[in-house]
Amino acid sequence: MRTPLIAGNWKMNLHRAEAVALAEAVVKAIKADSGKYGKAEAALCPPSVYLDAVAQVVKGSSVALGAQNMYHEANGAFTGELSASMLRDVGCKYVVLGHSERRHILGESNQDVNRKVLTALKGGLSPIVCVGETLQQREAGQTADVVWEQFFGSLAGVSAEQMQQVVIAYEPVWAIGTGKTATPQQAEEVHADLRKILEFRYNTATAQAVRIQYGGSVKPDNAAELLSQKNIDGALVGGASLKAEQFLGILAGA
Ligand code: PGA
Repeated sequence: MRTPLIAGNWKMNLHRAEAVALAEAVVKAIKADSGKYGKAEAALCPPSVYLDAVAQVVKGSSVALGAQNMYHEANGAFTGELSASMLRDVGCKYVVLGHSERRHILGESNQDVNRKVLTALKGGLSPIVCVGETLQQREAGQTADVVWEQFFGSLAGVSAEQMQQVVIAYEPVWAIGTGKTATPQQAEEVHADLRKILEFRYNTATAQAVRIQYGGSVKPDNAAELLSQKNIDGALVGGASLKAEQFLGILAGA
C-alpha cells in the first residue's frame, strides 16, 4: 500500500511570520484530528530562507519538510546555490526537482534535473521529480512522449533501490496555477502510463512502490476525486497550499 503524499509547494510566496503561522496551523490541525488528516503524509516546501523557521514548527510532528530546489554539487564556489547536505542539515526529507517553472522559466534541462536527482539521492533526500506536458504538446498528442522523455532523462542512472526514495509528480503545465485541472480520467491515464514505464524500466515491485503525485490546480473540491484514482498517490499543491484550511481540505480528501 502506498501512503499518499500531499506536499505544499509555497513557491516564492509568504514572509517569515506568515510562513510560521501557516505551518503552525497545519501541524496543529493534524495533531488535533489524525483520524481526519492522518491518512496521507503531509509535507511543506517553504521558500529556502524560511526552511529553518518552518523546521522548528514541524519538529516532532508527522509533517515533513521539503525544499523547492537544490544544486547538484556537494559544496564549493557556487554563489547563491544550496547543497543536499545543507537541506538535510536543516531538516528536509524531500526536495522538489524539475518543477515546470524551473524547466520552463529558468531553463532547466532533463540533464540538469538528472544531476540534481542523483546528488539528492546520494545525500539522503527524497526527490519529488516533476514531469508534465505543455498545452501545445497535449494538443499535438505528444503527452505520452514528453512524459517518457522526461522520465528517462531526469531519472537516468537511478537504481531500483534508489527509486524507492523517489516520488514522481505528474503536473500538466497547462493546469499549474491556471485553475484548469486535468480531469481525473486524464490524470489517471498518464499516471497509469507512468506506472507502466516504471515496470518496464525497473520491475513490478518498484512500479507498485513508487508514489506518483498529481499536481495542477488541486483544490479541496477536486482533491477527493483525483486522489481516488488507482494510480494517483497524492498531490503537489501550489496555490491552495498557501491557505491552511485549503491545504487541510485536500489532506482530508486523501
Ligand atoms: P498549483 O501549482 O496548485 O497552483 O496549480 C501546482 C504546482 O506547481 O506544483
